[in-house]
Amino acid sequence: MTDDAKRTVFICRGTGCESSKSDVLHKMLEEEIKKQKLDKKVEIKKTGCHGFCQQGPIIAIEPEGTFYAMVKDSDIPKIVEFHLGKGEPIEDLYYVEPNTGEKIPKYDDIPFYSHQHRLILRNCGEIDPENIDDYIERGGYDGLKRAITEMTPEEVIEEVISSGLRGRGGAGFPTGLKWKLGRNAPGDQKYVVCNADEGDPGAFMDRSLLEADPHSILEGMLIAAYAISASDAYIYVRHEYPLAVERFKKALEDSTERGFVGNSILGTKFSVKIHIKEGAGAFVCGEETALLASIEGKRGMP
Ligand SMILES: Cc1cc2nc3c(=O)[nH]c(=O)nc-3n(C[C@H](O)[C@H](O)[C@H](O)COP(=O)(O)O)c2cc1C
Ligand code: FES
Repeated sequence: MTDDAKRTVFICRGTGCESSKSDVLHKMLEEEIKKQKLDKKVEIKKTGCHGFCQQGPIIAIEPEGTFYAMVKDSDIPKIVEFHLGKGEPIEDLYYVEPNTGEKIPKYDDIPFYSHQHRLILRNCGEIDPENIDDYIERGGYDGLKRAITEMTPEEVIEEVISSGLRGRGGAGFPTGLKWKLGRNAPGDQKYVVCNADEGDPGAFMDRSLLEADPHSILEGMLIAAYAISASDAYIYVRHEYPLAVERFKKALEDSTERGFVGNSILGTKFSVKIHIKEGAGAFVCGEETALLASIEGKRGMP
């Protein structure tokens, strides 16, 4: 029996899954889908981290919402022949809940996910981080458009203050207040600095976002630059995160091409340059004054 349903296969290409060879599985999927002549009805999308790396490599299939865990290369022909070709899911690859031993076929029913309400990570695992259109389809750059075409910098700051958003660097400092202090600080030359150094061992929150949804960080930097009237914005990111750096660079190229970065953004008077600074791995360079020294080419000391 065959079925004609169109499907999308999401293969996780975050660092966790790549360390268990999801890049190889991705190639095998492409070849097997061609071999079994299913390329007209199956689309493959690579994603960043889904947040559940210990279950990797992860493959999700839509529209069913199937979640396959710990996929091996020998599983690929079965997934293609049975699930993609005949609409028959592979039960052996379902996630097993350790507390109960229950096999759970659907992504949304897995307790790890059903107990989460994602805000910052909302796009992670759902979009191809290297495809700007995926980001735009989910409302990407609407916030920037609204900020720079409909709001004054002061209104943007007031909205961020009233949202209650706080910094993720550890201290939980109110973001809007930081922007207000930046805007009101003396001097005409202002800079935005995005701290993506992430020195804490095993933290991986900056890395996950950079690898899975780099445009959201870029858009946040652009809105911050507008709010404080900065001409330049720097992102300081660990050199040990090559995939994060690569995906951010790609996001920057694509968004520049679309007119979201550079001069006269979206036809307005707002212009900003974005710079990427790769840190050399010193833990202390995540501290803000050491980080600024490092960007300036000095020794990174607080
Ligand atoms: C020793 C030390 C290391 C730090 N490392 C980091 C880091 O890796 N990433 C980070 O975001 N903040 C780090 N911080 C906190 C920063 O100094 C700063 O508070 C933070 O970047 C502010 O950003 P936020 O408003 O998003 O929290 C570190 C602080 C200290 C004292
Ligand atoms: S890298 Fe695939 S789930 Fe984290």
